[in-house]
Amino acid sequence: MFIFKCGTLMLCALVATTVHAEDIGTPISNSDLSSWDISIGPDGDGLPQGSGTVAGGATVFMQQCAACHGATGTEGPADPLVGGHGTLTSDAPVKTVGSYWPHATTLFDYVRRAMPYFSPGSLEDDDVYAVTAYLLNLNDIVDDGVELDAQSLPLVQMPNRDGFVSWWPDKPE
Ligand code: HEC
Repeated sequence: MFIFKCGTLMLCALVATTVHAEDIGTPISNSDLSSWDISIGPDGDGLPQGSGTVAGGATVFMQQCAACHGATGTEGPADPLVGGHGTLTSDAPVKTVGSYWPHATTLFDYVRRAMPYFSPGSLEDDDVYAVTAYLLNLNDIVDDGVELDAQSLPLVQMPNRDGFVSWWPDKPE
């Protein structure tokens, strides 16, 4: 009986309420959308303007990241970001962004959207490029003097690139 009454009430409520499309929220503006539209493709599609050096990234890392990831990116308490090379096929694989992740562009995307942990989205794009360059340098993937931007970052070859089957931009045959 309760179910019947409840159903009847809901039906009455629906009949009594006329919903107009214009009452449901407001259209999102392009400028509001841009702060959400930040996905970077593995091939670098969507990377913003700007650039950053390994040296600049060292400063960003010490100020914004080392407290959780350790002074050399290995000590924690949060995930180690450096090392693990050559361990993936061993009995004790160490998966870091350097040893495991297949695309350097994903590192940029992740840091820009998710780090620092308690203030994601707070870094300038130049700082994201810089700290990405620094982490790749700590992992011996790029040289000390490197400066990364939208053109050079997608060209960085990650050690485990061939450990994944990429469906981007097309599913392989
Ligand atoms: C307050 C602590 C904290 C700070 C500061 C912080 N991180 Fe993190 N970071 C974390 C935690 C916790 C995780 C794991 C998040 C998860 O698994 O959801 C993480 C994960 C990561 C990962 C992914 C690691 C993996 O192997 O999956 C990267 C890359 C990273 N952080 C980079 C950075 C960078 C770069 C900065 C500085 C700009 C930074 N973090 C600052 C706590 C922090």
